[in-house]
Amino acid sequence: MHKNIMVLPGDGIGPEVVAEALRVATRVNEIFGIQMQFTECSAGGTSIDMHGTPLKDEVLKRCLDSDAVIKGPFGGPKWDNLEIPIRPEKAILRLRKELDLYANLRPVKLFSALEKASTLKTEVIRGVDILIVRELTSDLYFGEPRGIFTKDGVLTGMNTAIYRDFEVQRIVQKAFDFARLRKKKVHSVDKSNVLESSQVWHKIADETAKQNPGIEIEHMLVDNCAMQLIWNPRQFDVIVTGNMFGDILSDEASMLTGSLGMLPSASIGGKTGMYEPSHGSAPSLAGQQKANPLATILSVAMMYPYSFQNPEAESMILQAVEAVLNEGFRTPDILEEGKKLVTTKQMGDCVLAKLVPKR
Ligand code: IPM
Ligand code: MG
Repeated sequence: MHKNIMVLPGDGIGPEVVAEALRVATRVNEIFGIQMQFTECSAGGTSIDMHGTPLKDEVLKRCLDSDAVIKGPFGGPKWDNLEIPIRPEKAILRLRKELDLYANLRPVKLFSALEKASTLKTEVIRGVDILIVRELTSDLYFGEPRGIFTKDGVLTGMNTAIYRDFEVQRIVQKAFDFARLRKKKVHSVDKSNVLESSQVWHKIADETAKQNPGIEIEHMLVDNCAMQLIWNPRQFDVIVTGNMFGDILSDEASMLTGSLGMLPSASIGGKTGMYEPSHGSAPSLAGQQKANPLATILSVAMMYPYSFQNPEAESMILQAVEAVLNEGFRTPDILEEGKKLVTTKQMGDCVLAKLVPKR
């Protein structure tokens, strides 16, 4: 059956990296005989410029009606002075909320060819394979009340950290489901020594653990986790955490793989999944073919198992990326001496060349 994919290329390097991911998807579809139609729409900064809003209702509706959404990064300095409700980032949050994408999966897996590309010691990061499961539709990002106001002459900014039992239960359960297919270890990360929202998180995580025998749970405070990720990253299998902590820890963890340009993400939960790189729009690189398209290519790879129950297509893309890295092709963010520097598009070409049907 025909699949309809909404494509939101986004801002900065977005159009360049998304173009490469679509070329990869098109080839994979040919190989597997998958009928997929891609429809591009503007959202984020470009939509503000064209329509005065970061996400038109009509675009949101088309995303809701689609089988999956492929999204580039949104935002950039041009829109940095706008108020929060009309910033490009608001479109991302609205998409996540309206599509009910409460689970954000960020696999932090080190390709062995990149062991030396990281600023961290090879012996510390070798073999790192972590799945960060970040809650995506609650916490400080969405909590009410929020706002900026002046009270008694004092300018005040306010946000609300909030977790409700059912929000914690469903995301922690997801983490257990993934751990069961992996090394059967979940680290639940919170700040329950200070925050009430984290105390509810901790309690519900424990209750969920009781319903998942055979999988080990360890609670870790977020500040400790930030340290442990750098000190001994191999102790982690699945990390489950809230929206705000997950945002920060996943950027940190990306450096275990050599570059934020290597970190893909899949946002799932509702009927339509969304696949987006974890990195931002990198305005300083935009339009120069210097960006690493692999995070977006790997995000699109995740679309196949999570939206279309096709893990073979994902493996094919992963193997192609691995082969390209083994042959020494590198975008500037992962370049080391003796390796071959390529542009965004050339990196796409390299991956395409490695996508071959199994005989
Ligand atoms: C991410 C990004 C977004 C987030 C921003 C751009 C809204 O940093 O996906 O990690 O904070 O979730
Ligand atoms: Mg982030």
